[in-house]
Amino acid sequence: MLGAVPSRTSVVVLGGSGLVGSRVLDLWAGDLELIAPTHAELDVLDDEALTVFLAQTEAPVVLNLAAWADVDGAEPERGNRDGRVYALNARYPTRLGILCGELGKHLVHVSTDYVFDGESLGRAYGEADPTGPLCWYAQTKLAGEQGVLGAGAQACVTRIEMPFSAQPHRKQDLARLCLARLGRDELMVGVVDQRITPVFLDDAVRALRTLVEARFTGTIHVAAAGWTTPYLFTRAIAARMGLNADLVAPESFADFAPKRAARRPQHSWLDVALFEQHFGRDILRPPEAELDAWAQQVSAT
Ligand SMILES: NC(=O)c1ccc[n+]([C@@H]2O[C@H](COP(=O)([O-])OP(=O)(O)OC[C@H]3O[C@@H](n4cnc5c(N)ncnc54)[C@H](OP(=O)(O)O)[C@@H]3O)[C@@H](O)[C@H]2O)c1
Repeated sequence: MLGAVPSRTSVVVLGGSGLVGSRVLDLWAGDLELIAPTHAELDVLDDEALTVFLAQTEAPVVLNLAAWADVDGAEPERGNRDGRVYALNARYPTRLGILCGELGKHLVHVSTDYVFDGESLGRAYGEADPTGPLCWYAQTKLAGEQGVLGAGAQACVTRIEMPFSAQPHRKQDLARLCLARLGRDELMVGVVDQRITPVFLDDAVRALRTLVEARFTGTIHVAAAGWTTPYLFTRAIAARMGLNADLVAPESFADFAPKRAARRPQHSWLDVALFEQHFGRDILRPPEAELDAWAQQVSAT
């Protein structure tokens, strides 16, 4: 659903130092008023501090990117609702949703493709498809989605998938990992039998901006407008950056998956038809076009 489009928006950004948040701050700083407290300035798990902070700001929109986003690192807390992962991914977003509802603020909350079980080989996951999270990170993120949507706020839950950036960040995404390894002439494994829709981070940030400005409510997917595999994605990077694509070693999902602490969905691909229906086809692009834009930016920096 869409609301009125305001001329200039003031936005609270929580989690602005993260992989996604840092690019949001870079790309929005010029023409939006951003209120982005650091973790040191606001611990989002401190209920009282969060309440005071939100009550004091007049910003009508909150973008939530603060989360526990380390998928394997969440597993030691599996099943622990008193742990930090559950607190950050489930309890805090629910609290944030309640506060936004009370204060009349619009909330855009970021979630993940990992809420699905990855069994769907025939078609990409739509927003209304049944969820089936396989790991603790995904279970807590799903609980966060449900908390946000049930909190009584005007809220949007947007599931993004594998954002990859042309900008350096302490957290290495798949594209930059590939660039680093192939750049050192090291082998890079690429899974061949896995459908994914990784999104160029700049496109995702544009999509988030569109959702903020439209005051979109409900669940919506933000991903590439077409699927690839980790193997094809990695080789496409090698080709664009003049690196040796023969260093990309094909691997099956069955061989790859057991090496990781957390169980992952195999076919983790998101359908972006709903986004396109509302906002057209210019923002979310097919993998080849995203990678062209990514490579151009990497080469320019
Ligand atoms: N990256 C991916 O591949 C991916 C894929 C799908 C979905 N997502 C989702 O996208 C969102 C952003 O992910 P990301 O990769 O940008 O995560 P990230 O790089 O790990 O950033 C997480 C952010 O949360 C902040 N934070 C953590 N605990 C906090 C606390 N107690 N109080 C205040 N701030 C706190 C961190 O600040 P400090 O660093 O200062 O602690 C950081 O700014 C998450 O919801 C994630 O689930 C990510």
